[in-house]
Amino acid sequence: MTQSTTQPSTQPTTAPTPSQTTPDISGSAMLELGDIHSYYDHIHALKGITLKAYEGEIVALIGGNGAGKTTTLRTISGMMKPRTGTLTYLGEDIAGKPAHKTMQMGMSHVPEGRRIFPQLSVRENLEVGAYTITDRKLIEERVQEGFAYFPRLKERENQLGGTMSGGEQQMLAIARALMVNPRLLLLDEPSMGLSPLFVEAIFDIIVKLNKDHNTTVLLVEQNANMALAIAHRAYVLQTGEMKLSGKASDIAKDESVRKAYLGDE
Ligand SMILES: Nc1ncnc2c1ncn2[C@@H]1O[C@H](COP(=O)(O)OP(=O)(O)OP(=O)(O)O)[C@@H](O)[C@H]1O
Ligand SMILES: [Mg+2]
Repeated sequence: MTQSTTQPSTQPTTAPTPSQTTPDISGSAMLELGDIHSYYDHIHALKGITLKAYEGEIVALIGGNGAGKTTTLRTISGMMKPRTGTLTYLGEDIAGKPAHKTMQMGMSHVPEGRRIFPQLSVRENLEVGAYTITDRKLIEERVQEGFAYFPRLKERENQLGGTMSGGEQQMLAIARALMVNPRLLLLDEPSMGLSPLFVEAIFDIIVKLNKDHNTTVLLVEQNANMALAIAHRAYVLQTGEMKLSGKASDIAKDESVRKAYLGDE
């Protein structure tokens, strides 16, 4: 299988630490998409997506440019409404529920291209992330927790978000999403544009979050090697359709995946 739209992933300098948890995937899923179809006007972006994430899992969603990864995350968090199909989260039908509702239900979405507030300081960006929380003490605890995960942010607490480097802004975007202590974290290409060292740091933090807080993570990545190395399970999207799913370690060995997404000739 060849795909002109895919890019070979950047080889990491060191492999990230794989997930250290064993989630129970025998019961009902935390998040479940059944035959989801989503459109941008007449553009049929998702053509029957079926996907599950169980509590405590890191699930990787990989695929080439335009495959529908971002659209899948947008549909889940409520930034767009699916035209047909079922979408349940924590046993509740959330199809078409707006993003502020899914956020109240413990979902946090870090969108593509890290949308931090450039005119606000690092600390202010974090505080904005906690806008649903009124308890000042709790907000401060979460800020400090964010600083513990990302010491670089603590050093730059008063720097304006817009003057942070690309990698630092990505850290800030993730730390901001963590302010609500999410049960489900949707990450859209967290490694995009980062140097190998930053990439490794981001992936290690995802693993640590999952281990420390049992946070369920749906991880969209073009850096398929790294995503598959830390994930429990994975899905492969191609032009709006789910091509493959299974244990991340099996997907990583799949020949068609290796050729299309992992840079093998
Ligand atoms: N706002 C939009 N309006 C119209 N079409 C869109 C819009 N956003 C995405 N699309 C189309 O929907 C399809 C899926 O796009 P999506 O952004 O979900 O892909 P992706 O897998 O995230 O790709 P990438 O790896 O490049 O980020 C593509 O064909 C894209 O052109
Ligand atoms: Mg995308």
